[in-house]
Amino acid sequence: MTNKPGITYRPAQASDEAAIKALIRAVNINPMGLKWHRFVVAVDGNGRLIGCGQIKPHWDGSRELASIAVQKEWRRQGVAGKIIRQLLANEPALVWLTCMDKLVPFYEQFGFIEVKKGDGRSLPFYFRLATTFFKPIQKLSRVPGYLAIMVWPVNP
Ligand SMILES: CC(C)(COP(=O)(O)OP(=O)(O)OC[C@H]1O[C@@H](n2cnc3c(N)ncnc32)[C@H](O)[C@@H]1OP(=O)(O)O)[C@@H](O)C(=O)NCCC(=O)NCCS
Repeated sequence: MTNKPGITYRPAQASDEAAIKALIRAVNINPMGLKWHRFVVAVDGNGRLIGCGQIKPHWDGSRELASIAVQKEWRRQGVAGKIIRQLLANEPALVWLTCMDKLVPFYEQFGFIEVKKGDGRSLPFYFRLATTFFKPIQKLSRVPGYLAIMVWPVNP
């Protein structure tokens, strides 16, 4: 994917924290655990935040690709892809994620595979809990689709 001129991809700084939180709020994804030092950000020529993402470590030892978000006017230009590749480049072990099923093809292009019930791969405890809690919330909210769990295998 081409690197658009004027966009810088870099590890986040403390001064990016407010903009990261505002973007995550605006796209309405999980607002928990937004510690700036774990993020990679994309910024425009004026230093404004275009997109972000992080690898979140969990208490059970699992690691999650999370908080992937791009400002509406900057989408479909490869920004999320660059952020994701940069985050994965430093990962030695399995990386997990959850997403709505419609985004499965999006993450597949980076090497993630969907983990389905009965395929023999055991989920980390954190992700088992997350799906258990998410199901009733989703039913109530009537959002169509299901919550997919995906894993990025170092050795597929
Ligand atoms: C999902 C999201 C992060 C994608 O960001 P992006 O910068 O537009 O993605 P990229 O340009 O890197 O996408 C690369 C390719 O992925 C695919 N893709 C992008 N968005 C997609 C989507 N919503 N669904 C399916 N495929 C998608 C396309 O093939 C695209 O290439 P193309 O534009 O040449 O067709 C962005 O739409 C977003 O911020 N959405 C709201 C927040 C969100 O849902 N985050 C994910 C939480 S799990």
